[in-house]
Amino acid sequence: MIQVLCVCLGNICRSPTAEAVLRHKLMEAGLEQHVFVDSAGTGGWHIGDSPDQRAQQVASDEGYALIHELRGRQISIEDRQNFDYIYVMDSNNMRDVQALFAQNPEKEGQAQLNYFLGHSDYSDKNVPDPYYGERQDFEDMLTLIEQGADDVIAFLKQQHGL
Ligand code: 4NP
Repeated sequence: MIQVLCVCLGNICRSPTAEAVLRHKLMEAGLEQHVFVDSAGTGGWHIGDSPDQRAQQVASDEGYALIHELRGRQISIEDRQNFDYIYVMDSNNMRDVQALFAQNPEKEGQAQLNYFLGHSDYSDKNVPDPYYGERQDFEDMLTLIEQGADDVIAFLKQQHGL
């Protein structure tokens, strides 16, 4: 099974949304047996927490009900070995994950680190943090993540012959 980890700062807005959308779309494509999806935060403030109410609301309004079940966790160095792909939401997440890997050079791993929008045709690869924003920011986040999820799945299908 291909292992995919979505990463943001808090693991309560963007990365759980990405996890729920990816899992939903993989199910629709009949690929849920081929790809395992998880999410984590670079920060540890929201370990064990449900996703942000606003993220839950916009996701469930669009039919991604699974988001309610997710709980926050923090990325660890073991994730580098346990996952094949680690997709970050913005350049701060990228810097923090690269720093985590650099601090533990003995813990090598196969994970390919990329932006969640890295397979998408956007010049700006960041999914902006909506935490201090309005509902519209959460809706914009979901739209970007839906596009990114389609492009991640297309990449995985092509890369792994699914
Ligand atoms: P996320 O958003 O990284 O998309 O989950 C945030 C959630 C919480 C915080 C920051 C960003 N926080 O500082 O608590």
